[in-house]
Amino acid sequence: MLPRYPYTLSFKSTAKLEEDDSALLLCVPERSRLRIAAPTPSIRTLLEHLFAGGMTDDQLCEAAMHADKNADPAKIYFFLEKLAAYGMLCYTLNLEGKPFATLQVVASPFKLADLDWEESYQLSRFAYLRRTEDGMIMECPLGKAVMLLNDPTALSAINHLTKSCTLESLSDQSGLEPGAAASFLLLLASGQMIDAQNPSGNLLTEQENTTMRQWEFHDLLFHSRSRLGRHDYGFGPTSRFLGILPPLPAVKEPMSGRRIKLQEPNLEKRQHDSINFFTVVEERKSVRVSGGTPITVAQLGEFLYWVARFKQIYPVDMEQKAFYENCVRPCPSAGAVHEIELYLTVSNCSELEPGLYHYASLSHELEWLSELKEPQKAMLEDARLCSYMTSPPDVLITLAARFQRLSWQYASMAYATMLRNAGVMYQQMYLVATALKLAPCALGRGNSDLFAEATGLDYCVENSIGEFMISGQNH
Ligand SMILES: Cc1cc2nc3c(=O)[nH]c(=O)nc-3n(C[C@H](O)[C@H](O)[C@H](O)COP(=O)(O)O)c2cc1C
Repeated sequence: MLPRYPYTLSFKSTAKLEEDDSALLLCVPERSRLRIAAPTPSIRTLLEHLFAGGMTDDQLCEAAMHADKNADPAKIYFFLEKLAAYGMLCYTLNLEGKPFATLQVVASPFKLADLDWEESYQLSRFAYLRRTEDGMIMECPLGKAVMLLNDPTALSAINHLTKSCTLESLSDQSGLEPGAAASFLLLLASGQMIDAQNPSGNLLTEQENTTMRQWEFHDLLFHSRSRLGRHDYGFGPTSRFLGILPPLPAVKEPMSGRRIKLQEPNLEKRQHDSINFFTVVEERKSVRVSGGTPITVAQLGEFLYWVARFKQIYPVDMEQKAFYENCVRPCPSAGAVHEIELYLTVSNCSELEPGLYHYASLSHELEWLSELKEPQKAMLEDARLCSYMTSPPDVLITLAARFQRLSWQYASMAYATMLRNAGVMYQQMYLVATALKLAPCALGRGNSDLFAEATGLDYCVENSIGEFMISGQNH
């Protein structure tokens, strides 16, 4: 058996120990909690050393036994294993007395990997490096741990793993002794950052497994990071910038002095219409027609009114913990944030000049932004192409998110929430368009750079996240 280098065990820097009369409560914020009833002196010593860091499992056990001569070593090792399974430990590989790499476990249940040293290993295509305040880290959405690369030479060892390596070849190429290379590979494998190759050269999980073959890198990362489970980053409506940055107001500054007041529909008249809600639901469908009777500005106004007008805006009220302006529209939005703005590229609408407009949701007006120039025409053409139509839609509606309105409030899931909100709005658009006998169709792709060029808006401040077409005729 290969002599591995023992890891130094420690708690994550965020771990805390609380004590009441009879028990200790060990907690790693955002994640696990372990209640230790009637802790013995040996367990207390073990915990102290884990907080201080810098001891291997054998050294920890020895220190714990020293504190209580009658302690049972099996029970101490068992307790350490329990902490490991709860995902509470960090494992540091020290080389020549210095930390080389540290695996910080972020989710449970966790177990150190076991590797077959006859096999070859390569970096997972889902693994990635990035800079953090603690230094360079490696993460992988398949795993339940993050690796901190304490020593720059760890980066060079990782570089060798972009190609398939045996333990021997990694040791030769990186200059790491076999035991060190093995310990490093074990840490990487424990975070699922490397994958084994089969004899024909395919990576076992990523090329042989039909499920994994169909995952793209960014999709799996987005999925794992925007859901709870295998990370321990802040999550949910945490008001994470409260007291640090002001939240964005609900209503944007006017974008133009040229404004077109839209007619407000008569709700009473609509209530007497014979149209039935369930008929609308039943009849809803995607209609890809244009070039016939164009949509009218009155229809467009009514459509926007039932989809996206602001019905109410509630002011900030610190006492009620309403830290940002909440708003109400006909369709719902997570946290009543309503970060989505609508931009209309109008190609054919009676009584409305072709051009690019912004819908001012509070005043129920259109703000004129520009005539149809190259980028606006290209957006219409993109819409035509991805709906296989012979002419562009009467109106292309672009859903743009004011990102910081939502990311001020939500940690880890802001972008995923915006996409959910866009989906909600799509359905509202479909139903309202069906009720108004218009031709609706959602679009699955759009060019966000083109949108930035067409509107002059900063890509990172407010940008398109969805597109929807609407035309006059609904056969
Ligand atoms: C998110 C989303 C994206 C879509 N993208 C497109 C698209 O790019 N082009 C298109 O012609 N239809 C698109 N559609 C419409 C679907 O093709 C349509 O909903 C589906 O074929 C079912 O037909 P139905 O809407 O008539 O029930 C999209 C629909 C949704 C919900």
